[in-house]
Amino acid sequence: MCGIVGYVGKQKAATIILEGLKRLEYRGYDSAGVCVLKDGRLELAKKSGRVEVLVKEVARHHFTGTTGIGHTRWATHGGVTDANAHPHISSDGKFALIHNGVIENYSQIKTFLLSKGYGFQSETDTEVLCNLIAYHYAKEPAGASNPPHANGHGTGSGSRFLESVRKALQHVEGTYGIAVLCVDCPTELVAARKASPLLLGVGDGEHIIASDASAIISRTQSVVYLKDGEIVHLARGGFTITTLEQEDVSPVVDKITWSISDAEKGNYAHFMEKEIFEQPIALENSMRGRFSEDGSTANFGGLNLTASELRQIDRFMFCACGTAWHACLVTEHLIERFARLPVEVDYASEFRYRNSPLDRNTLFFVMSQSGETIDTLAALREAQRKGYRVLAINNVVGSTIAREANGGIYQHVGPEIGVASTKAFTSQLLIGAMVALYIARLRDMSFSDGVSYVSALKGAPDLVRQVLKQAPEIKAIAKRFARHADFLFLGRLSLFPLALEGALKLKEISYIHAEGYPAAEMKHGPIALISEECPSVFFAPKGEIFNKVVSSMQEIKARKGPVIAIITEGCELPPGLADAVITLPDCHEAVLPIVAAVPVQLLSYYIAVERGCDVDKPRNLAKSVTVE
Ligand code: F6R
Repeated sequence: MCGIVGYVGKQKAATIILEGLKRLEYRGYDSAGVCVLKDGRLELAKKSGRVEVLVKEVARHHFTGTTGIGHTRWATHGGVTDANAHPHISSDGKFALIHNGVIENYSQIKTFLLSKGYGFQSETDTEVLCNLIAYHYAKEPAGASNPPHANGHGTGSGSRFLESVRKALQHVEGTYGIAVLCVDCPTELVAARKASPLLLGVGDGEHIIASDASAIISRTQSVVYLKDGEIVHLARGGFTITTLEQEDVSPVVDKITWSISDAEKGNYAHFMEKEIFEQPIALENSMRGRFSEDGSTANFGGLNLTASELRQIDRFMFCACGTAWHACLVTEHLIERFARLPVEVDYASEFRYRNSPLDRNTLFFVMSQSGETIDTLAALREAQRKGYRVLAINNVVGSTIAREANGGIYQHVGPEIGVASTKAFTSQLLIGAMVALYIARLRDMSFSDGVSYVSALKGAPDLVRQVLKQAPEIKAIAKRFARHADFLFLGRLSLFPLALEGALKLKEISYIHAEGYPAAEMKHGPIALISEECPSVFFAPKGEIFNKVVSSMQEIKARKGPVIAIITEGCELPPGLADAVITLPDCHEAVLPIVAAVPVQLLSYYIAVERGCDVDKPRNLAKSVTVE
């Protein structure tokens, strides 16, 4: 949700900021803007539309300043207009501000500022914060400064600029990642965060503030992950970090472990396509070093729980949103099936307000690719507040969820940039399967069953490679069905969540209405949708329910509904029942959902391409939902 970049250094800020915005565009793409400081003036360009529109606009201006900020927007307050695009300038012309988040008490602050003579050009909450900083700056006596900070990275002094931002933030309710410029401080920038991600890249003679690492990776791999309530002040070639309460913070400089090529499309047409085809490697990275030497169970370094502590757990709770929630549903199935322990799965957004009673010996998990989803973070905090230990399954190293959890498992799949989650999903399925194995082996799963489970998981990347080879056939099926306006996705047991995921993938990137149902539930309502115009995608793997799923297909066919069947090797469908068939390799139950994810990802991808949709930037969406 909204991408922000700020630069202080010796290069042309606008060039570096625009490059950062292009890489952050997957966070929001309604409008974009840039502002640089030059000769005591704020030079501003902002436009509704994509970053490429802004690039053309900036080219007309020849901005040469070396301090600047930029923003790519996902609208919350106020429509998509040039005026509502960020950066916003305070009405006295002294401050420019970019913001990711929501200022909840903006309307009270606006009323106050209007009474003090401040004016507003936009409908945004952000402009209110910008003017509030200007108000505090005007109130602060000129020349006021605070004692020097002594953390070794410091600028050597606080400043009136910094203190005005701090004071304004003390009056703000809501969430923010902000970066601010002040005309009186030509080589300074102040940035702060509360529940919106923000990091500082420490480069060679330059510093870059950004919402995520993809915006800084081409300049530096050294990074400081800012925490909630921290304010960073870039000045005089250095930086200081303090809290809202004015305490000094000693920065920890981490290294980003992936490289610029991981954040580029290479020869693929879209990030989504690249990420689908990267899945075998992503799965290998997720499982690397995580099996016991005897090959009978999983090993996780970061759970911060001993085997005997885990043995006390008799119930699990998983919270997540969207695709990650689907991965939790599959994990529920596997834990219940193999470890024979009850699992509850909740939408993080519901859990945080539901005040649901939890058993004492419950282990709480959250799952989040980005580690920044606000609802998942709130669920984690709520569970911790109730005294539960919370473990996170998460991809982005250094994310808020990763830092606040009591332990967890990193996915290690590299940056996922396509807005529709693909490789992160299959890696979540894999890690969920490994968690189920680990718990099962602490209980009743035998050594030999553990060994076959592990060997099946190790084979998952190759099975996914086999399915990926069917891409041309799946593309042909996509072409045949791309013009239908409604789809059903139907599956049972561990593949019911895959039906939900298939429907979500299709609707989010191709704007086709799609619903996922347990195959047998279809008779209880959705069958009313069936006609020649509504294809049904069935998961029908080999096993005890195969014949039942085939009966459901017959019921669809009897009503002239087209059937796309995803079966496993060795299954025989009655002749003429399916209009298209995709055959998956036969595999272990724990691997089946991973393998089954691939054809629905490819089907959705090719349908969206066929319909001319912007696959990596679907309308109204953004990666990483950091607002409620
Ligand atoms: C769908 C998708 C979203 C995310 C959801 C949670 O393709 O990507 O549904 O899964 O917003 O995001 P994370 O996993 O970052 O918490």
